[in-house]
Amino acid sequence: MDYEERITAAELGQGEGRSESTLRPQTLQDYIGQKKATDNLKIFIEAAKIRKEPLDHVLFYGPPGLGKTTLAGIIANEMGVDIRITSGPAIERAGDLAAILTNLNENDVLFIDEIHRLNRSVEEVLYSAMEDFALDIIIGKGPSARSIRLDIARFTLIGATTRAGSLSAPLRDRFGVSCKFEMYTAEELKKIIGRSAEILGVSADEASMNEMAKRSRGTPRVANRMLKRVRDFSQVKGTGNIDIDITNKALKALGVDEMGLESLDREILRTIIQRFRGGPVGIDTIAASIGEERVTIEDVYEPYLIQIGFLHRTQKGRVVSEAAYKHLGIAADDGEKQFTVTISD
Ligand SMILES: Nc1ncnc2c1ncn2[C@@H]1O[C@H](COP(=O)(O)OP(=O)(O)O)[C@@H](O)[C@H]1O
Ligand SMILES: [Mg+2]
Repeated sequence: MDYEERITAAELGQGEGRSESTLRPQTLQDYIGQKKATDNLKIFIEAAKIRKEPLDHVLFYGPPGLGKTTLAGIIANEMGVDIRITSGPAIERAGDLAAILTNLNENDVLFIDEIHRLNRSVEEVLYSAMEDFALDIIIGKGPSARSIRLDIARFTLIGATTRAGSLSAPLRDRFGVSCKFEMYTAEELKKIIGRSAEILGVSADEASMNEMAKRSRGTPRVANRMLKRVRDFSQVKGTGNIDIDITNKALKALGVDEMGLESLDREILRTIIQRFRGGPVGIDTIAASIGEERVTIEDVYEPYLIQIGFLHRTQKGRVVSEAAYKHLGIAADDGEKQFTVTISD
């Protein structure tokens, strides 16, 4: 199945943007979980409002679908300012960024998604913009070229990335606040599902919400998508109300197992077990064996497999845990020391 079509894909599928926005909470009050990040942000937002200043620049990092874009929108909302949304790959030249920056109003939020993918010359323009709220522009060419400094509105940059490690040090250092996004607990996901069901006007009982929460791999985007697909099943094959029976049937048909794993998750684990004796095996070797990109495995699949303890990252490579063997119903073979895993990080 295509990655985008997977129900548990944490990234946005095509055409999903609009339907997702109706489920996006607009206020901190409605934003569930991520307490560590939001408790601090609440204070910084209050303080900035009292001083009538923009909020300090904020960096969000963590796997896709955990609410980074949503929280950026909420911050702008709570600050009572406008938000301009763009992404690293969309800003091709320094001039594109300059055009965006000169159009911002005082205290506005500029949200740059996938900020680790900004190219170098664009990133350099951002340094002085973040630090001094100024742009250094070169006019002319060759020996007659000169640089002029242009003031811009004082703004807040919110950068989001799935990989904080790929950010250059000078860029990282210019963020006053950085927030790591954690996977959600089943309880938090159940609340999110309950809220979304209400917005969608569909009734779901306790047992079905618990089940969907459990299988949503800690990710609100997955939970919402699952709710919509289960709703489809209940409308076509059931009563229109979501109960545990239709939930189980729907998720079975969609190939999502009790732990929220789909075929590619299982293939990663099975490959490591059957071809590399459970590991340790390098990430590039795994990627080549299953024909998937290394970054996709690292950013999208691995975080959850590691979170539930099915996969460990060691200095020598990835190692599958005993729990994963059990889950897949594969017996560990005799000789090797498969279960003596030494975890080094
Ligand atoms: N804390 C939350 N509370 C309620 N819904 C959330 C929360 N975080 C995310 N969502 C839902 O999940 C979807 C994906 O979130 P998004 O902000 O786009 O994730 P990211 O930008 O991290 O990939 C949103 O449309 C929203 O409906
Ligand atoms: Mg996003």
